[in-house]
Amino acid sequence: MTLLAQITDLHLRPSGLTCYRVSDTNMRAERAVQALLALSPRPDAVLVSGDLTDKDDPREYAQVRRILGKLPMPVYVIPGNHDGSDTMRRELAEFPCVGASSGSKLYYTAEIGDLRLIALDTHVPGQPHGELGEEQLAWLSDELSASDKPTVVALHHPPIPTGLGHMDRIGLKDTAALQKVLRPHGHIERIVCGHVHRPITASFAGKTLTIAPSTAHQVVLDLDGNGSGYFNFEPAAYYLHAYIDGFGLVTHTAYVENFEGPFPFWADEGVSWPG
Ligand SMILES: [Fe+2]
Ligand SMILES: [Fe+2]
Repeated sequence: MTLLAQITDLHLRPSGLTCYRVSDTNMRAERAVQALLALSPRPDAVLVSGDLTDKDDPREYAQVRRILGKLPMPVYVIPGNHDGSDTMRRELAEFPCVGASSGSKLYYTAEIGDLRLIALDTHVPGQPHGELGEEQLAWLSDELSASDKPTVVALHHPPIPTGLGHMDRIGLKDTAALQKVLRPHGHIERIVCGHVHRPITASFAGKTLTIAPSTAHQVVLDLDGNGSGYFNFEPAAYYLHAYIDGFGLVTHTAYVENFEGPFPFWADEGVSWPG
């Protein structure tokens, strides 16, 4: 079994500052890292699917290095709209595959046990929406043809409408071109995304697509199409993708905070129930 944990949308701030006045994103990311460290068995790798920072500020990247540096396994990062591809290459050069990448976009392939990770860059400088671009899509097509190994394709902006109006307005632009590239490849086990701050499952290009919840604040479930963007503190969570030999990828939702329990199912054993 190969285990890939996915955390997303950390929105880290300079030390001592909160996000949108009320979300202590640094504290929440620290708790997410503690939750990952407590897992047994530990994940083989961690994917951070974008919006590592809130304002692409070097002081925020210092927090990224400090908090994610506590993880002993490889941590793969991709940019979100709140980050910057160039800033990440400069500030997070020690993260796997980041320093070695070149060009305006930060994309790469990594081998994680039985899985292959194709990490994409949807960041558009100064814009909240996402775009892959022709050059990256051509590279993706070649990369998918190069190996039949079970593959996870990761990108920050999901290429699907979610029904959350304010998030769909800042979605991915070149979805039709991406669909064309992905559809022929049966070895794509999953498309994984962030950006929406909610757990969502859909299909895209004949594959399963999952959007992970944030380790910090969540987006309010508002499907009236006119939502103007509220967040709340529904439970912070992350995904644990397990590649199970002979089957494929199975995804567990796991929570950042601790809850009551565990309790045994057999506590009432030997107790006779009234007739
Ligand atoms: Fe985000
Ligand atoms: Fe985002």
